[in-house]
Amino acid sequence: MVALTVNGQSHQVDVDPDTPLLYVLRDELKLNAAKYGCGLGQCGACTVMIDGEAVFSCVTPIVVLEGRNITTVEGLGTIEAPGPMQQAFIEEQAAQCGYCIPGMMMRAQVLLQRDPAASDEEIRAHMEPNLCRCGTHMRIVAAIKRAGKLMQTASVDTAKRTG
Ligand code: FES
Ligand code: FES
Repeated sequence: MVALTVNGQSHQVDVDPDTPLLYVLRDELKLNAAKYGCGLGQCGACTVMIDGEAVFSCVTPIVVLEGRNITTVEGLGTIEAPGPMQQAFIEEQAAQCGYCIPGMMMRAQVLLQRDPAASDEEIRAHMEPNLCRCGTHMRIVAAIKRAGKLMQTASVDTAKRTG
């Protein structure tokens, strides 16, 4: 048994400890946002956030993840109440086939949690490891910029309410 914390929920999974996280997310926990692209850490389709860092879940065995906080796109919001990243990708219509998008969102989330006002150049450099075969890069950058603005607005609103 390996204990995993995914999107704030604890799970005990009974699989080989060397199993890559991506398979556990999809096959055991039925969290299907993260995608299998290359399986080699070369495309970013499987990207999730672990303790605030972007990680390729296809090459990360679960044995090293006990006690770590794993976040997937399912943890960013719901269909009824999308989080800022999801909302921004919808508003910018950033997906074409959509296969790369969950990984894009999670890598972008890592950046915006550190700096919601990241520049275009910083966004492009940060997103470099994630590939999009449909070529929607311009819209993806626009969506990340929009998500940053939504996050900043949300934190100003919270400060007004609590301040
Ligand atoms: S599927 Fe993990 S990097 Fe390509
Ligand atoms: S939208 Fe198709 S791979 Fe990116």
